[in-house]
Amino acid sequence: MVTSSAPGKVYLFGEHAVVYGEPAVPCAIEKRARVTAREIDEGLRVHVDDLTLDGYTVEYTGEDDGHPDLEADESLVRAGVGYINEAVAQARAVADRPDAGFEIVVESDIPLGAGLGSSAAVVVAAIDAASRELGVELTPEEIADRAYQVEYAVQDGQASRADTFCSAMGGAVRVEGDDCRRIGGVGNLPFVIGYDGGAGDTGELVAGVRQLREEYDFAADTVGAIGDIVREGESVLGTDDYDSMGELLNFNHGLLAALGVSSRSLDAMVWAAREGGAAGAKLTGAGGGGCIVALDETDGALTALRYTPGCEDAFRAELDTDGVRRE
Ligand code: MEV
Repeated sequence: MVTSSAPGKVYLFGEHAVVYGEPAVPCAIEKRARVTAREIDEGLRVHVDDLTLDGYTVEYTGEDDGHPDLEADESLVRAGVGYINEAVAQARAVADRPDAGFEIVVESDIPLGAGLGSSAAVVVAAIDAASRELGVELTPEEIADRAYQVEYAVQDGQASRADTFCSAMGGAVRVEGDDCRRIGGVGNLPFVIGYDGGAGDTGELVAGVRQLREEYDFAADTVGAIGDIVREGESVLGTDDYDSMGELLNFNHGLLAALGVSSRSLDAMVWAAREGGAAGAKLTGAGGGGCIVALDETDGALTALRYTPGCEDAFRAELDTDGVRRE
């Protein structure tokens, strides 16, 4: 039996635009998904305990055609099962054990579909745990690549390498197309996260941006402008010039809102954080609901978020320099 964990992330800059080849800078945070893999005679048994789901167990012996008994929102469960199926398929392929059976237990501190990279963290940890259980040790880079193949398959080709690379490697990373690297010299950033208790559908949100981008030149320019923000942001990363960084976060949020991926509750939390004294704030991840990230060295934004109707949880998050690891 092997347990591995991998971190969630926030996007400092660049979500959505990264899907079209612009750069992005996600940062791993100290909120982890842990996956335990145990080899069994045949099939796949999955137990999941997640913050946004009361906890459910899915048990079946088939592959994708399994019809599990569901006690939670069916689409979330089906997506979760899809990620785990594909992650296990990757481990079976690397070990050349196509029929290996698994019991998989997932425990996560990361709310599902809320912009904190829950699916990437689960997939990365699952590939690591399941392949180790079959006696194969992959490098974090190999895991990142295989986890990307999983997200790509489950999200119908609507995925960049950003979430999976960040979760596998940890720290702050820069992703531009297939060029993925860790950014050195980034110390802890004063991240404050607000969570509205909701979730967005990444596939739908990415498809919406794609449609706007194809329809209007100014939407394509907006995506390009997000890339410009990232390039500008790189020059302040590694400094403690949070005012400049915050200004870029604000700009990035405005452009994401123009692309239709913000929501009333995300906007309310962004404004509450700013009015509470944050240097800047933006939604993080696919949007539609879920989380915002603010930069604030004081307690102001955190307090303001805690009093904001629609904000279900607010907390500080530390940069996690560890990527995937065996527990
Ligand atoms: C989702 O966490 C981030 C998006 O940019 C999609 C992706 O990069 O795969 C919206």
